[in-house]
Amino acid sequence: MSARDTADARFELAHMAHAELYTPDMEGSLWFFTQLLGMRETARHQGSVYLRCYEDPYHHSLKLTERDQPGLGNVGWRTTSAEALERRAAALDAAGLGLGWTKGDLGVGRTFAFQSPDGHPMELVWDVERYTAPDELRSRILTRRSKRPLQGLPPRRLDHINLMASDVTVQKELFEQTLGFGTRERVVDGAGGGTEIGAWMSVNVLGHEMAIMRDQTGSKGRLHHLAFWYGVPQHNTDAAELCREYGIQIEAGPDVHGITQGAFLYVLEGRADLRRGPRAGAPPRGAARRGGRGRDRLRRGRARGSPGRARGHPGGPCRDGAPGREARPPHRVRPRRRAGRRGRGRGGRARRG
Ligand SMILES: [Fe+2]
Repeated sequence: MSARDTADARFELAHMAHAELYTPDMEGSLWFFTQLLGMRETARHQGSVYLRCYEDPYHHSLKLTERDQPGLGNVGWRTTSAEALERRAAALDAAGLGLGWTKGDLGVGRTFAFQSPDGHPMELVWDVERYTAPDELRSRILTRRSKRPLQGLPPRRLDHINLMASDVTVQKELFEQTLGFGTRERVVDGAGGGTEIGAWMSVNVLGHEMAIMRDQTGSKGRLHHLAFWYGVPQHNTDAAELCREYGIQIEAGPDVHGITQGAFLYVLEGRADLRRGPRAGAPPRGAARRGGRGRDRLRRGRARGSPGRARGHPGGPCRDGAPGREARPPHRVRPRRRAGRRGRGRGGRARRG
């Protein structure tokens, strides 16, 4: 691949259009995405359920498919034209990543299937079905595809995907060269010989639509999380409260990343078995900056200092279902000690009111 190839690829992808997650507990996952997040179901087909957020532009942004193990089923990127689709398919074929053309899916026309260097399943698409709300869901805001739901948090739209990779640089450069991704920020392990351990990339003005983290387990093709956009950091606090109330495991946050300055809340999706579900983050995107400042930047990657994990990304469920590093147990609220004779608990101040 040459610099010319990279320049030719620029502006040929528009955005991430949809993603598919596998779930071993369809009922639990549907509860999470529809009741807690407030996404709306648009279709069911061959055992899969199709969902969208209220500002998502297309037929669906999330497809849930029942499988024995959780994982990533697919990531769909929409091109900027039918011609761009053909050109990017040829580039992926030349890079040895192409898997061939498919007939598409509900709301999705012909696609070109491919995989990342690590084997993450993906596809390119141009022909998609734009969502038209029925009368009862039509928003009075003309730029909004459907009414904001009364139920759930709810997120506005699909935002980004975070993938684990055995070699961040290989993955990053192939996405730059074949699909025109721009790298907005990256993290380099200065103490480890300059190895890239994280890259945040997009094909448009977003700070990132895809993040790639080094998988220290040596596994390939794992998903870390899929993220939805709420738009207001306060919503993450509300979301955290609801997750506590309804038994959804919070892995980290609400807080703000130093990288991307995105407000985030990481939770483990799934009600029946919280440790096995794929992850769904909720970070509004933040300003983008280039460059890596060494490992410390990841270790101190919080703009606000919550006492959560200091290790950055811990690894998620494999697409083949093998577990990653186990997440922290659910945060438990310790019962308050009853105020003593002097009205004080251990080492604390008297509770007021
Ligand atoms: Fe994220």
